[in-house]
Amino acid sequence: MAAKIIAVVSPKGGVGKTTVSINLAAAIASLGKRALIVDTNLETPHVAVYCGFAGFKYSLEDALNGVVPVKDTIYRTDEPNMDILPSRVFKQSWDGNAKYRIINMFHHLEKLLDAYDFIVLDSKPSTNMEFIKLIGNVHIIVVAAPEITSLIEAKKLEEDGTRSALMVDGLVLNRVNAKIRGTMKDSEIKKIVSFKTIWKIPEDHSALDALQHGIPMVLYNSRSVSSRAFLKLARDIISD
Ligand SMILES: Nc1ncnc2c1ncn2[C@@H]1O[C@H](COP(=O)(O)OP(=O)(O)O)[C@@H](O)[C@H]1O
Ligand SMILES: [Mg+2]
Repeated sequence: MAAKIIAVVSPKGGVGKTTVSINLAAAIASLGKRALIVDTNLETPHVAVYCGFAGFKYSLEDALNGVVPVKDTIYRTDEPNMDILPSRVFKQSWDGNAKYRIINMFHHLEKLLDAYDFIVLDSKPSTNMEFIKLIGNVHIIVVAAPEITSLIEAKKLEEDGTRSALMVDGLVLNRVNAKIRGTMKDSEIKKIVSFKTIWKIPEDHSALDALQHGIPMVLYNSRSVSSRAFLKLARDIISD
């Protein structure tokens, strides 16, 4: 069966898109499904950093610019079911062509659909909605912080996705910490957004440890508070 494409998006930077993307891909892989993580964030790409991945020759930019076939930009990771298609972290020159050509991304993804069960796309902040609309057959997961301004922006994305007949699978509320005063209650959250599913990923004090080791949290410590939540998210996505 062709891979299901999941785009992880958010209106704001720094809310946890890359963390959610790589851990979702790693969790899906650790549950026995073939997963590919693609860094479609050409401006501030961090997937390779989170995966401790350095020294690769070709990247997404090279596929988009027609330098090499997309298959030559994919690398194995230490998790046998998880591959990575990185974007270049330090660019030698401005990849203007690649940025333009990302709208043709689906032609590249199409060639990979049979090789994977899930393809997870990390995105730039403020979303890649234009490019996601062009891909069409993609499931959207919105990431937001559990605070009012982040939720308002998430609602706009939800409405944009629904208006464009996209499949909006749900909202990930990241860095939830009930000990912080003023943390929004479920009833308050549901007054703002109406996603069919809301997953909560707790604040995890060992997130920076995993990042420093260049290992996705679910592979670094599968029993950490966020890992358990990422594994639940992955199980829900797999069984959907
Ligand atoms: N659940 C979490 N608990 C603790 N820290 C987190 C969590 N999720 C993300 N972070 C941290 O927040 C920062 C931004 O996350 P990142 O995934 O890079 O955001 P984005 O891709 O949206 O810019 C990183 O330092 C990351 O380690
Ligand atoms: Mg990011």
